[in-house]
Amino acid sequence: MALWSGRFEQSVSEFTQRFGASLPVDKRMYKQDIAGSIAHARMLGRQGILSDTDVEHIEVGLLEIEHQIDQGKFKWNINDEDIHMAVESELIEDIGAAGARLHTGRSRNDQVATDIRLYTKHLLMNLISENYSLRKVIVRAARKNFGTIMPGYTHMQHAQPVLFSHHLLAYFWMFSRDYTRLMAAYQAADASPLGAAALAGTTYPLDRFYTAELLGFDHPVPNSMDAVSDRDYLIDLLYACSMGMMHLSRLCEEIITWSTTEFGFITLSDAYSTGSSIMPQKKNPDFAELTRGKTGRVYGDLMGLLVTMKSLPLAYNKDLQECKEGAVDAAHTLRDAMICMEGMIDSWEVHSHQMLAEAGLGFTAATDVADYLAKRGLPFRKAHEIVGRLVLYCERHRVGLEDLTAEEFQKFSPLFGKDVVEDLNPEGIVRARDTYGGTGHEAVRLQMHEASKLLKHDRRQVKALRDKSEGRPGA
Ligand code: ARG
Repeated sequence: MALWSGRFEQSVSEFTQRFGASLPVDKRMYKQDIAGSIAHARMLGRQGILSDTDVEHIEVGLLEIEHQIDQGKFKWNINDEDIHMAVESELIEDIGAAGARLHTGRSRNDQVATDIRLYTKHLLMNLISENYSLRKVIVRAARKNFGTIMPGYTHMQHAQPVLFSHHLLAYFWMFSRDYTRLMAAYQAADASPLGAAALAGTTYPLDRFYTAELLGFDHPVPNSMDAVSDRDYLIDLLYACSMGMMHLSRLCEEIITWSTTEFGFITLSDAYSTGSSIMPQKKNPDFAELTRGKTGRVYGDLMGLLVTMKSLPLAYNKDLQECKEGAVDAAHTLRDAMICMEGMIDSWEVHSHQMLAEAGLGFTAATDVADYLAKRGLPFRKAHEIVGRLVLYCERHRVGLEDLTAEEFQKFSPLFGKDVVEDLNPEGIVRARDTYGGTGHEAVRLQMHEASKLLKHDRRQVKALRDKSEGRPGA
């Protein structure tokens, strides 16, 4: 019989029981559920609502159940709709009347919201740590490959040469903004719904500030109806995950391109590649492709919850039960994808000669040749036109700008001196771009310094967050 059986003459069918259950999904929140119940019981005792003996029995009983689940010995009953009922009915069976008093001044509505928020904090804590590690790997790769020059692209056409480190660091900043989004989601989740009861609060003199503190929440949610009915913090988590996957998918796309025969910029290690069952020569960048593909599912998780939440009236509606799978899936997917990316970057082989060779092709010096003329007094638009004609000339003669002699340059403009050919090598072109945030060697050195500074700051922040949640269900 269900815990609400009093009002019912019949129980649900086996099918509707299964259809209505969330146990298969919220089982994983058992530690959070038990921590929430212990906090609630302690608070009831402190407020004189439960006797000290009851509280003690409840706590011991709950810890025993936790131990049983930890050991895989707990008997799950398909008649329990969710983790809250599974734990509570077992507690009542184990300790009797004291167990039946636990649910005083509480509803599954505030209970489930509490569990989800604690679990969300736990997921985010892991994502935040992993994001930090990934960024560390990126900075390490940027330092290791400092000086390697590659073609920078626009429209997937050779544009201007850049430092490979500069290209990598672009992702460092993207991932740093993902970190900020994950932190924001953590803060959004960090409020306690416990004590909101079904929707309206309760007649018992509960101390919501005390339970919030016991559970490591920053504060109690100020409105009981809001507390039990919104899941916006999960949407924040899903959005942060979507952005994280989006950024990873872009880097994956580049990794896939860079490892083609046509590019040959990198070779992924065997550990991050797979073979073909028919073509013996194949070495496929499966994990980069898979991350690119999984991005779609994470976006779907975000969209799914946005739609579930749309137009939901206050307060709790059973629709809300649907909020868990997608969030857990997205968080696990992003975490695995970050771990995978770290591995790929840490173990790839970079072919700097091939990168450099390509960096000089495709007239990547054209902008600098135009700048050469503009610096000698020609309006930039005019210079642009002259260099355009030069490129056309080169294309017709199937040569590169670097193959032209100073005399050939001078045919296009008398402003060209003998030194123009010196401005054509990728190294010089890169070195000259030393504006803040540019690809010049000094600018990138400064950028690496700034990135390391930010990492140092974030490391302290992650540690403080970990210390704060140490030993708590949100850890
Ligand atoms: N299984 C429910 C969920 O996951 C728990 C809360 C149910 N509350 C209720 N009044 N039916 O959302």
